[in-house]
Amino acid sequence: MTFVGPLGLTIEDDALQADLVSGLAEVEQILHNATVDDDDLIAQAASHLIEAGGKRFRPLLTLLCAQFGDPAAVGVVPVAAVMELTHLASLYHDDVMDSAEQRRGAPSANVEWGNKVAVLIGDLLFSRASALMAGLGDNVIRIQSETFARLVSGQIRETVGPRATENRVDHHRSVVRDKTGSLIATCCRLGSLLAGADEQTVARLAVFGEHIGVAFQVGDDILDIVSSSEQSGKTPGTDLREGVPTLPVLYALESSDPADERLRSLVSGPLDDDELLAEALTLLRAHPALDRVRADLANIVEQARKELVDLPECPAREALSVLCDAAAWRIA
Ligand code: IPE
Ligand code: IPE
Ligand code: MG
Ligand code: MG
Repeated sequence: MTFVGPLGLTIEDDALQADLVSGLAEVEQILHNATVDDDDLIAQAASHLIEAGGKRFRPLLTLLCAQFGDPAAVGVVPVAAVMELTHLASLYHDDVMDSAEQRRGAPSANVEWGNKVAVLIGDLLFSRASALMAGLGDNVIRIQSETFARLVSGQIRETVGPRATENRVDHHRSVVRDKTGSLIATCCRLGSLLAGADEQTVARLAVFGEHIGVAFQVGDDILDIVSSSEQSGKTPGTDLREGVPTLPVLYALESSDPADERLRSLVSGPLDDDELLAEALTLLRAHPALDRVRADLANIVEQARKELVDLPECPAREALSVLCDAAAWRIA
């Protein structure tokens, strides 16, 4: 049987498949344990998004990168769970910040329990991730805390927006590196580090992960415009509604074509009105800005692919290469 992971990642190698399937099952158990609580409401709200679904892209990447050392080493599976918990907690917070109504095909936690509970459940999940980190070593804890600081800094700088003198696209790129690239890079770094891979391999995988993470976010921002909620499990146009500019919007705003006047005026601020939002989505879907973002995405994926060349040849390297193909297709 072929293993099919997120982003169309197919894995043919039997031994690698078996390792990933059993590692992901262990991660699932740890995630479940991390949401257990004496208080029923807390337990229910904390397990809400884990049960709703999710691709488990971060733990999968962590386990794949552990293949460059000993994937059975102590700490590999727990750190894969920590990566997902950190992501998960950030989603609880992100949905409050973005007033998102849907996540993983379910109502967001803020819709179910309100903003205050959603923020506090995010905090709780961060604390459970911290508890899992204890025992993994000072270096691992330091890397994770620096990663978390970058993620938060990206989210803050996205919220605050660029300084008056700052280029909007440059600001956005650095936000994406921090809010999304940082954690995906750390999946690759910590998976390989805890598996005992050599220093150069760990460093290469971390660079690979940062590029793939940025590509992942850029692909997600395209999907926010072109996909339906059945496909993404989220409400399309959530960023547009909130006036959070993503690359397609920033590129459309750069256009000086008089024919784009209407689109530019629609996307230059928040869009509360459903009809205006639908109009902006229709105009953006047909706009050349989207092709420009697709070309950017392909370039970022190529940068990631370059990091694979000098890695030891093994089925996991092949899988990461397939992932690059898949990441490039995601928005074709
Ligand atoms: C969503 O991440 C947030 C982004 C960084 C784009 P995922 O697309 O990995 O979300 P889940 O975990 O599958 O729900
Ligand atoms: C994803 O934020 C990044 C983090 C949660 C840190 P977005 O707001 O871009 O992602 P979606 O579209 O809500 O998943
Ligand atoms: Mg969001
Ligand atoms: Mg956001």
